Amino acid sequence: MRSIHTAWAEIDLKALRNNLAQVRRRIPGRNTQILAVVKADAYGHGMKRVAKVLAKSGVQFFGVANIDEATELRSVCPTQRILVLGSFHASQLPFFIHYRITPTVSSVEDVQVLSRFLKSDLTHDSRLRGNDNSRPFPVHVKIDTGMGRLGVWHEDLEQFFSVLKTSPNLYVEGVYTHFSSADKADKKFTRQQIERFRKAVQKIEALGIRPKYFHAANSLGLLRFAKAHLNLVRPGIILYGIQPDKNIANVPGLKPVLSLKARVSFLKSVKKGASISYGASYITPQATQIATLPIGYSHGYRVGFSNKAFVAIRGRKYPVVGRVTMDQTLVDLGPRARVCRWETVTLIGRDKNINISAEDLASLIGSIPYEIVCSIHSRIPRIYKGIR
Ligand SMILES: Cc1ncc(COP(=O)(O)O)c(C=O)c1O
Repeated sequence: MRSIHTAWAEIDLKALRNNLAQVRRRIPGRNTQILAVVKADAYGHGMKRVAKVLAKSGVQFFGVANIDEATELRSVCPTQRILVLGSFHASQLPFFIHYRITPTVSSVEDVQVLSRFLKSDLTHDSRLRGNDNSRPFPVHVKIDTGMGRLGVWHEDLEQFFSVLKTSPNLYVEGVYTHFSSADKADKKFTRQQIERFRKAVQKIEALGIRPKYFHAANSLGLLRFAKAHLNLVRPGIILYGIQPDKNIANVPGLKPVLSLKARVSFLKSVKKGASISYGASYITPQATQIATLPIGYSHGYRVGFSNKAFVAIRGRKYPVVGRVTMDQTLVDLGPRARVCRWETVTLIGRDKNINISAEDLASLIGSIPYEIVCSIHSRIPRIYKGIR
């Protein structure tokens, strides 16, 4: 027996493949590979299904935030490379090693903890790495060129690499950096980060270290700075068909992957002057019909949308009225709408000529579209379409 969903997210896997093709078009050289960023449950789209489709389309690298995401991803991507973009704790190292997950190394302390563990691993539990335990363990070194987050400061590389060189059980497979301002109209700071990274790479090579991968570009890095493509790019948001920044010209060809939908769960006719929802912040200006949608801030449909956002039903726009509550949201249909109970409502996505984007919703509340899609709670089922 199956009941209907009353609030759900539709994930269009064909659109995902389209966006991957758009990324590929923008890195024309054969030498640049793609590391798809699928952290935060693939920005709310469902990491496992998204990664499976991308892997089937030839993506060989994935980036996640932590070891828990990495081990979950390993179950659907048995052969692909998985890089943890966040930091690690010593207690997580057996999982990195057992599941062949690549850690990001950002400090002398990271090198020492990892190297010490690998030594003990070899002596105490060789089962952990199977036949691999005689080979150096691959890591990616992060260099901070101006983000101020993880990474070895680009001017402190000598000391860091002098310690790393005394750890023969580690292999620097990659070095990377992250841009803080690739969205700024003024490209100066990102250019400076690229230059700092270029010099860092020169220094590393002069020390006799030969990484296989160099990477820097997030979505806007790859769209706006060809010099940052190097031999690996790390797109996230554009794979999901979302325009990365409202101040940068729209990227043509992207198709939004996620739509958020709900059904009208209740309809009520009210008189002029009726107060709607907590705080009575909306008073009906005329006799009207109020629709209840069974979705609220506990699902990620934000309180900030109260009296600001619109939804679409049968290709027409209707305003969200009164305060969005924990699990219900109210919409003013006007006096003449012929909307039925249990009809489908689009909260994010396209309905005929009406388009409600994550970008639009973000603008309403001074947020960014990343936050809008990442906030959609796991209680909202993801329904996949487009590819079996
Ligand atoms: C280190 C790193 N690389 C790449 C990305 C992908 O960024 P975007 O989604 O802007 O493409 C992220 C996302 O936050 C990140 O943290």
